[in-house]
Amino acid sequence: MTYYVFTDRENLIRCLPENAVGAEVGVFAGEFAASILEGARPSELHLIDAWRFVGYNWRDLPPQVPETQHAAFVRYLKAAEPAWQSQDPSDGLAMLYERVQSRFAEDARVRIVRGLSSTILAGYPDGFFDFLYVDADHDYHSVLSDLWAARRTLRPGGLILGHDFDMDRRHQWSNHNVIEAVMSFCKNSGFRLIALTGDLGSTFVLGEYPDSDSSAAFLTRLIALRAPIVDIPQEIAWNYRRQLVRGENGRAIAIPSFRS
Ligand SMILES: C[S@@+](CC[C@H](N)C(=O)[O-])C[C@H]1O[C@@H](n2cnc3c(N)ncnc32)[C@H](O)[C@@H]1O
Repeated sequence: MTYYVFTDRENLIRCLPENAVGAEVGVFAGEFAASILEGARPSELHLIDAWRFVGYNWRDLPPQVPETQHAAFVRYLKAAEPAWQSQDPSDGLAMLYERVQSRFAEDARVRIVRGLSSTILAGYPDGFFDFLYVDADHDYHSVLSDLWAARRTLRPGGLILGHDFDMDRRHQWSNHNVIEAVMSFCKNSGFRLIALTGDLGSTFVLGEYPDSDSSAAFLTRLIALRAPIVDIPQEIAWNYRRQLVRGENGRAIAIPSFRS
């Protein structure tokens, strides 16, 4: 069973064990890294990002990459780095790298590691991390490869978290395929989906099956948050999406849906 919990990722990470060794894979401007440091209080947090554009060939616009997704990335990067003026998104990401470096310069818990997630994770020993938060490239193969790399570097009983479980090409016009990657990983790795948040860009939490002590402790703390929780079969979580419905005055509202 999976806990679908009506809370956000900032609250969720308060359920992680304190003084843990963690990683965020895909850091961008470091906003969520700051939340992890504040909410999860790790002893070490490794911030891993290429800080150059690796998502798709920037010139490969429709039909290979949906225009809406491309425009959304430009908006996302400009909002984080208004000084980015060039045509090359790698310039904007390099500016974010500098910002992240100065932002966390005084925090001895932070290790900033720049490079492709696959290359960087391969350099860590087995069982190094207590938890990883996976939020780098969102296409099927990248997410899957990050999840398997995360599993190798995770200590037995550790937790893998990740972002954007509600973005999937089956449900919207995008290249993202996070749900299918998580589903494949769970089917083949001995991990299960223990929790899923109801905020925009749902965060998933994966733990070994049968549940380790860390998974059980995490779920106990999750219940203690007193946010509304629905216990759902894992199988229906693979149908998850935010369904647009017509609200007052015809305005579109997104509601969670598990309908296949
Ligand atoms: C969605 S953003 C991360 C947002 C961040 N986790 C947050 O919540 O604030 C994705 C980041 O992943 C990085 N990225 C994408 N593909 C990558 C890869 N293969 N290796 C390393 N970093 C990658 C991008 O540079 C970008 O900064």
